[in-house]
Amino acid sequence: MKKYPIVGCMRWGVWGENFTTKQYETIIEQCLSIGLNIFDHADIYGHYTTEADFGQALKNNSSLRQQIKLITKCGINMLTPNRPAHAIKSYNTSAEHITISVENSLRNFNTDYIDTLLIHRPDLLLNPFEVAETITKLKTAGKLRSFGVSNFNTHQVATLAKYINIEHHQVEISVNHMNAFDDGILDQCQNMGIEAQSWSPLGNRLFSEGTEDANKKDKNKRILKIVHELADKYKTGVNEILLAFLYIHPAKIAPVIGTTKYDRIVSAKNAMEIELTREDFYKLWQASTGHEVA
Ligand SMILES: NC(=O)c1ccc[n+]([C@@H]2O[C@H](COP(=O)([O-])OP(=O)(O)OC[C@H]3O[C@@H](n4cnc5c(N)ncnc54)[C@H](OP(=O)(O)O)[C@@H]3O)[C@@H](O)[C@H]2O)c1
Repeated sequence: MKKYPIVGCMRWGVWGENFTTKQYETIIEQCLSIGLNIFDHADIYGHYTTEADFGQALKNNSSLRQQIKLITKCGINMLTPNRPAHAIKSYNTSAEHITISVENSLRNFNTDYIDTLLIHRPDLLLNPFEVAETITKLKTAGKLRSFGVSNFNTHQVATLAKYINIEHHQVEISVNHMNAFDDGILDQCQNMGIEAQSWSPLGNRLFSEGTEDANKKDKNKRILKIVHELADKYKTGVNEILLAFLYIHPAKIAPVIGTTKYDRIVSAKNAMEIELTREDFYKLWQASTGHEVA
């Protein structure tokens, strides 16, 4: 069974469309109307403002919270006027930081539980015992329902997993960024029963012109040429093909889509209907790497 797309909210606030509360309410309801009910956040999105913007919509329409699942992340300390105490960008996965961050998120979302908390980046000073103890306390208190990580390598996952059950791993995966296919991450997700989530599933900057790097420009052109050919073949759109490339993988990847447009959210759901052939998967793989398989 393919996993429904997770709806990413990173670009919904001041880092993107800057939706009004009414627009948040509308797009959340639209997502629910097509069966998408998981929303991805991080404490830092919108320089620490997007969770609260989204939470205002949950407050305005109290029927929404029980219908949705909220993912949020913590562990990055970002440099921003909204956090004047931060002197440099750094990571923090101490018990105190995780606990305060979860309390802030609960307040921002106007809720008493977070469905999923992810450690956003692998803190070099991460103490697995301390993280495990903190997460267990939060779960026991009913403030947190599931736990995972993001952007960890396989060793970091294995180490932390000795102390606490890791239920999700969110990493960058797309036709433009294929490391997870062969760096062990997706194998590990399958071995350990960890849900694999892919951020930037459409391929970071695949669509944007203006990259100065000639190799990247060539790569983007090669990928887009094949994507368009396949979109014609499957009588669908380019976004659908980019997501079908992820859906064919046996790890059952859940794409975390970042669009701010409802019609593109619908396309992401429609992509679940496409059964890409293995050869077409490898056509995209070849377009990305620039060479055939060995
Ligand atoms: N864990 C992490 O470290 C991490 C890092 C980054 C992001 N994330 C999560 O992943 C989510 C998705 O990330 P993302 O936004 O980079 O992913 P994405 O879905 O790959 O990209 C979305 C961007 O592509 C644009 N786009 C989509 N289809 C297009 C098309 N056909 N032509 C031109 N532009 C198109 C969208 O614009 P429109 O809005 O106009 O559609 C939007 O700006 C985020 O919201 C966040 O929740 C997690």
